[in-house]
Amino acid sequence: MKNRLLFLGPPGAGKGTQASLLCKTKGLLHLSTGDLLRAEVSAGTPLGKEAAAIMNSGELVSDEIVLSIVEKRLSDRSPGWLLDGFPRTVFQAQALEPLLQKLKQPIEVVVLIDLKDEVLIQRLLARGRADDNEEVIRHRLRVYREKTEPLVQHYDEKGLIKTVMGDGEIDDVASRIEKVIS
Ligand code: AP5
Ligand code: MG
Repeated sequence: MKNRLLFLGPPGAGKGTQASLLCKTKGLLHLSTGDLLRAEVSAGTPLGKEAAAIMNSGELVSDEIVLSIVEKRLSDRSPGWLLDGFPRTVFQAQALEPLLQKLKQPIEVVVLIDLKDEVLIQRLLARGRADDNEEVIRHRLRVYREKTEPLVQHYDEKGLIKTVMGDGEIDDVASRIEKVIS
C-alpha cells in the first residue's frame, strides 16, 4: 500500500471523513490544514486570530501561514502521511516539493474525491460548521474551481491522480479509495 498520500477534492467531498478513517487503520499522520487552522482559532493564538475571518468568508488563508504550519509537522520520522486540504494552490504545491525532496518522501498517490455540487452543498448545510452557510459554501466552491482545481492537471502530468466518486455510503467510498491506493 502507498503511504504518502494527498486527498484533493471540493469542500464537502468527504476528504476529512475518509482521511480520518484511513489514517486510523493505517497509522498514518493525518495532516489537515483546515483542522490545524481551526485548532489555532479555538486556542485564540495570533495566527488563529488572523485566520478566523478569512476562513469564515470562504477565502484561502495566506500561503505563508499555511506553509508555516505544515513545515513544522512533516518529518522523516513519520511512517507515512496523508495531506488533506493542502496543497490548495499551485504555489503551495511548488513550495511543498523541495520540502519533500529534502525528506526523500515524494507523494505516491493523489486521490481526487469528486462529487456533484448539489450533494456537496446539502452535506455541508447539514454539518453546520462556522463556514457552512449557503453563501460561504458557494464561495468556497468558486475558490476551489479557480485556485485548487488546477492542481488536478499539475498532479496528472506527474501520473499521480486517481479519481474516486464521493457519493454513496461512507464505507463504499472507503472501499473505492482502498482500491486505488493499494
Ligand atoms: P477545510 O477545512 O479544508 O474545508 P473544505 O475544503 O471546505 O472542506 P471540508 O472540510 O468542508 O470538506 P471535506 O471534503 O473534508 O468533507 P468532510 O469529510 O468534512 O478548509 C476550511 C478553510 O480553511 C478554507 O476555506 C480556508 O480558508 C482554510 N484553509 C484550509 N486549508 C488551506 C490551505 N491549504 N490554504 C489556504 N487556506 C486553507 O464531509 C463533509 C460533511 O459530509 C460532514 O458532515 C460528513 O460527516 C459528511 N459526509 C462525508 N462523507 C459522507 C457520505 N459518504 N455520505 C453522507 N455524508 C457524508
Ligand atoms: Mg475537511
